[in-house]
Amino acid sequence: MSTLLPPAERIWWKQPVDRVEGVWIVIALVWCLIMFFMMPYWHVFGEQNYSGEAYRVKPEWYVGKVEEMVGKYTVRYETDREIPVVKPPAGSDVYLLARLWSWYPVLELEKGQTYRLHISSADWQHGLSLQPININAQVLPGYDMVLTVTPTIAGQYALVCNEYCGIMHHTMLGRLYVVESGTSGSN
Ligand code: CUA
Repeated sequence: MSTLLPPAERIWWKQPVDRVEGVWIVIALVWCLIMFFMMPYWHVFGEQNYSGEAYRVKPEWYVGKVEEMVGKYTVRYETDREIPVVKPPAGSDVYLLARLWSWYPVLELEKGQTYRLHISSADWQHGLSLQPININAQVLPGYDMVLTVTPTIAGQYALVCNEYCGIMHHTMLGRLYVVESGTSGSN
């Protein structure tokens, strides 16, 4: 039999739903609804999802903000690539830039202080993974995403790009320090 021929039974779709089929439809529907309502529930009570703010910006404008902060608050340079380590004032706006293929600059934040952490990309889509505390965020050019953060554990953190962004994606690593108030970290 070919699909070019009409079906033998014209109204082939109008069959009573089998009991087993009905049960599966109900199970699937209930599960859909559970999954649906878990989204807002987990956002509010899950303590994992942050309520982000995001703004449309021009990538060049964002890069300018980063450079302005780097110019004002660089405290030292690290590695043989002379990456600036920036310690912005407690409570201020802090800018982190993703670009092919690095995180810029190295930020040094004080424990117990609250910052507005801006994250954006100069060129391409990247993914920010903050290790070892498992924060994940999409980083997009043209969007300034702002997270209000209060680091609670001093130490050295690694920034890892977890969105494939080209041939050197695997080398896109960065660093972030959280230091006790009034001190300065070093590598
Ligand atoms: Cu940036 Cu992968």
